[in-house]
Amino acid sequence: MTIKNHPCIRTKLPGPNAIQYLEKEKKFVSPSSTKGYPLVAKSAKGMVVTDVDDNTFLDFTAGVAVCNTGHNHDQIISSIWSQANALIHMSGADFYNPLHIELAEKLSAICPGPHTKKVFFGNSGAESVEAAFKLARYHTRRSIVIAFYNAFHGRTMGALSLTASKLNQRKHFLPLVPEVIHIPYAYCYRCHYGLTPDNCTMACVTWIREELFKTKVPPEDVAAIFVEIIQGEGGYVVPPKEFHHALYQLTRDYNILYVADEVQSGMGRTGKMFASEYFDIVPDIITLAKGIASGLPLSATVAREEIMDWTPGSHASTFGGNPVGCQAALTTIKLLEGGLIDNAARQGAYLMQELKKLERTYPLIGDVRGLGLMLAVEIVKDKETKEYAPEERDSIIQQAFSKGLLLLGCGRSAIRFCPPLILSTDDADIALSIFEECLKKIP
Ligand SMILES: Cc1ncc(COP(=O)(O)O)c(C=O)c1O
Repeated sequence: MTIKNHPCIRTKLPGPNAIQYLEKEKKFVSPSSTKGYPLVAKSAKGMVVTDVDDNTFLDFTAGVAVCNTGHNHDQIISSIWSQANALIHMSGADFYNPLHIELAEKLSAICPGPHTKKVFFGNSGAESVEAAFKLARYHTRRSIVIAFYNAFHGRTMGALSLTASKLNQRKHFLPLVPEVIHIPYAYCYRCHYGLTPDNCTMACVTWIREELFKTKVPPEDVAAIFVEIIQGEGGYVVPPKEFHHALYQLTRDYNILYVADEVQSGMGRTGKMFASEYFDIVPDIITLAKGIASGLPLSATVAREEIMDWTPGSHASTFGGNPVGCQAALTTIKLLEGGLIDNAARQGAYLMQELKKLERTYPLIGDVRGLGLMLAVEIVKDKETKEYAPEERDSIIQQAFSKGLLLLGCGRSAIRFCPPLILSTDDADIALSIFEECLKKIP
């Protein structure tokens, strides 16, 4: 008997059709992106991706935390279909668009805080961050921006300037936008200051106040602090609640904007609509993309109305807030509010509990962390020394692929579990059993 959603690998991987595409890709497509394994997707539904050789895979990546409603959800398809029939494009840069306005109103209502917010629409996470960066400078007339080590905010020049995740993302692209200062994040498993959360009194924030602001960086010249509420590409690092509280207080003390990058942690992924809600933080600006429109390219930069004070002509995008994307986003939000966020919290708790059991059994697992369905397992050579184990991590991901489970890495040595929010306990059990088989194979 085949279990629903159980992967089925029929060919050697990559299969014969995939090999042909891979050869052409090598010839014609930019080699600048990283591909962990040779998945050439042909179609997908729900939790399952089918490749060009008809192998099926259980997707624990959601297309990099994008397809939160599951692949090709029927309601998303019909929203896209009917909107495409009515209007595909009439640029929001020069014309008005009802869906643009409806979605902005909805985002104003659901983003943290009772105040009215205004929304700038773009097409990608990097664009939402780029807009937030420009807006922060525009509104405050200040130049300096603070961001964190291991942060990933995107790859356009402004967003890249805030990113400090992997050297090859920056190598040969310098100089970047000036006046961006990076500081250590609250990565408590590997605390920069060698402290533990119970004795540190948030040294990572105190250092900004007592050292940075007293020696090098005049706080009155700081426009914003850009922070991922949970670091995503940096390793799914969940900081203590006190970290965001102390950081937020610092921004209030110096009139600095608190910009929450929720591109990856937003749209229900953590079991709440926004990860900021876990920390009782009401950001001044929030950046959103990835899960916002179930796979269509759309992003939003959401700011308190008084902050979004830039004048006509100061920032715009031809495609940003495309009507089809906006319609998909409205349906996505309806589905998230209609049960998927609760499911993410429920299934995330189950997955976390089971991964913690594996942590107790396998010396390779140094840490299990996350919220909702934004979970990661950090692979180490030794639990005591916490030595990074990138080769072992990569080998687990490769083996999982060969068995039909799609996983992705994050950070230097972690594996993320970010499935669509439609995940069932049966799906979780399939993934857990494949993952455990892979762990057993590591010497
Ligand atoms: C937190 C965060 N911000 C920004 C981005 C950039 O998004 P995009 O790749 O859509 O430009 C990402 C992408 O992974 C992200 O995780």
